[in-house]
Amino acid sequence: MQPEVVHPAEGKPMNFTQIYFGGDYNPEQWPEEVWAEDARLMQQAGVNLVSLGIFAWARIEPRPGAFDFAWLDRLMDLLHAHGVAVNLATPTAAPPAWMVRLHPEMLPVTADGVTLWHGSRRHYCPHNPDYRRYARRVAAALAERYKSHPALAMWHVDNEYGCHVGECFCPRSTAAFRDWLRARYATLAGLNAAWGTAFWSQTYTDWEEIEPPRAAPAQKNPAQQLDWARFTSDSWLACFQEQRDVLKAAAPDVPVTTNFMSFHRPIDYFEFARHEDVVSIDSYPDTSDPGWAAVSAMTFDLIRSLRQGEPWILMEQAASQVNWRQRNAVKKPGVMRLGSLQAVARGANGILFFQWRQSRVGAEKFHSAMLTHAGTESRTWREVQALGRELPCLNALLGGRAKAQVAILMDWHNWWALELDSKPSNDLKLLPGLRAWHRALYQRNIPVDFAHPESDLSRYRLVIAPHLYLVSDAAAANLAAWVERGGVLLMDYFSGIVDPNEQMRPGSYPAPFRGLLGLEIEEFVPYSPEGRNSVLTADGRRFETRFWADVIHLRGAEALARFEQDYFAGSAAVTRNAYSRGSAYYLGAELEPAGLEWLLERVLGEAEVQPVLAGLPEGVEAQRRADSQREWLFLLNHNAFPVRVRLPAGGRDLLGGQAVGGEIELPASGAAVIETVIDRSRQ
Ligand code: GAL
Repeated sequence: MQPEVVHPAEGKPMNFTQIYFGGDYNPEQWPEEVWAEDARLMQQAGVNLVSLGIFAWARIEPRPGAFDFAWLDRLMDLLHAHGVAVNLATPTAAPPAWMVRLHPEMLPVTADGVTLWHGSRRHYCPHNPDYRRYARRVAAALAERYKSHPALAMWHVDNEYGCHVGECFCPRSTAAFRDWLRARYATLAGLNAAWGTAFWSQTYTDWEEIEPPRAAPAQKNPAQQLDWARFTSDSWLACFQEQRDVLKAAAPDVPVTTNFMSFHRPIDYFEFARHEDVVSIDSYPDTSDPGWAAVSAMTFDLIRSLRQGEPWILMEQAASQVNWRQRNAVKKPGVMRLGSLQAVARGANGILFFQWRQSRVGAEKFHSAMLTHAGTESRTWREVQALGRELPCLNALLGGRAKAQVAILMDWHNWWALELDSKPSNDLKLLPGLRAWHRALYQRNIPVDFAHPESDLSRYRLVIAPHLYLVSDAAAANLAAWVERGGVLLMDYFSGIVDPNEQMRPGSYPAPFRGLLGLEIEEFVPYSPEGRNSVLTADGRRFETRFWADVIHLRGAEALARFEQDYFAGSAAVTRNAYSRGSAYYLGAELEPAGLEWLLERVLGEAEVQPVLAGLPEGVEAQRRADSQREWLFLLNHNAFPVRVRLPAGGRDLLGGQAVGGEIELPASGAAVIETVIDRSRQ
């Protein structure tokens, strides 16, 4: 029996007819004479989609309830006449000054009680009823006006929910938190039990006594903090949902999205993505970091996973520099193209930028754009134009999916709980662990998804569970059932410790996984930054460990490596437990990268997982998309020198337009997308 999938997608998957190419378009910053040039140059660059009006609320509704659509009408018509479709935004991320003046209590308040004022963006409390009413009204007005406009391709709701202001502590938010808690627990007795308020005399006798987790003298109640994180995430989703409903009521067939932000802590994207028609993401890797491509690959793999592999859109990336790092590296020649093709390789059907034309005013004057201050006589423009010409060559693969046999487990609730304070080590964070595993797989060109622990894992051969500290009964049962059916699980330290209320699971660690892993953990031993241990593997390798050690007692598992030092020298550090038709590995230490490689080699071998292509030169990324008839092999050369790659089969390079045989040469920073027909008779 298949486990129930807890995150079925609700929206209607978007039907792509071409690879989208374009960017955020902010014409309200420019005199109207410039618009005609914009449209002409968009056409020249191959732009076929722009996100319009994202921050244009003050222009759309200059006075309360008085809408000015004349300028937007002209733009919609102009863009349509130039073959550019519109991703029309609700402008609700930048409320106008008049609204703040009328309703100053709509401004967000930080945990320290500081009000964040108008004069930037995202200055609203997600719980303020006046703001919410205005947001619905402007969304409805836009929907009514443009629902049948031929340029309209999709809706873009708000902008980067939870960015800048992740949470709000104003009185409205406090009241909304109490309502949310009432709905969750029904009774105060239920809340007191779930929050463990017997501790430090925290018992509540009236709902009105409950506050958000504000600044407090000592550690705050962890369950209260966890519920606050859940509540906040739900609130951003509620803001989205009510706009989506308004848009859908007017235009049921027009897809709705909002732009996500990579691994963004305030919002449970697995939950949120279910309510969209298509997932989109903004990605700004720092390309001065030689490992930037591994960073963006991880973002793209997450996004693809949120709606179980459906195609998605890269809604924003920089054509070159951003303006918000301490030092803003340019994207060197070829890097923007490589990053764009990497997104397509990992499932994107749209490549868009922030923004079309570089701003002359405001805070983003030094942020690059498709059309920079240097105009068309610039490297950026030439690279943008070249990409715009190239992407339509890939239209054949719109229905192709990037599939993985390996999943890394990811659960926002675990992330929130793991990083609360008062742990054996408060230095334990989730993302470094995720990154280490993902990077090791990335370097081997092994495709990887991120999966929710309660989701259907049946398509995977190997599942990696980094620091799965908070785990529900359903997730624990799901993992065990999947291993029973033959899966290979690799779990690492500080997993299976608390339940969804952040309460200790009874008995020795890791309570829900003792049987599955065939071991018990007596205690955790976090080290000082200088502290070291080492492990000796059963096959004679020695690896350094730092930061963390578990004191493990075997209860059926075999030891693959044992600690060499400290009072628990000789006890197991890495284990394997044969469990029904599968096996469960456990890593009770922070292994140096070579050790992770050693362990990965072993689990990949047992799970029989192969890379996309074996024997690739270092620095060459390979990824595959496929539909039922064809496969597209993406090869991206991240090296500053040419490389030769041996191919399993000949095909046609869609980028170069030529047939290729058993080998291909990729220039420095070069790429190829090789299309082959799947030979069903050989399967
Ligand atoms: C994004 C945002 C855009 C723009 C961009 C600059 O986070 O959605 O509006 O500010 O950053 O990199």
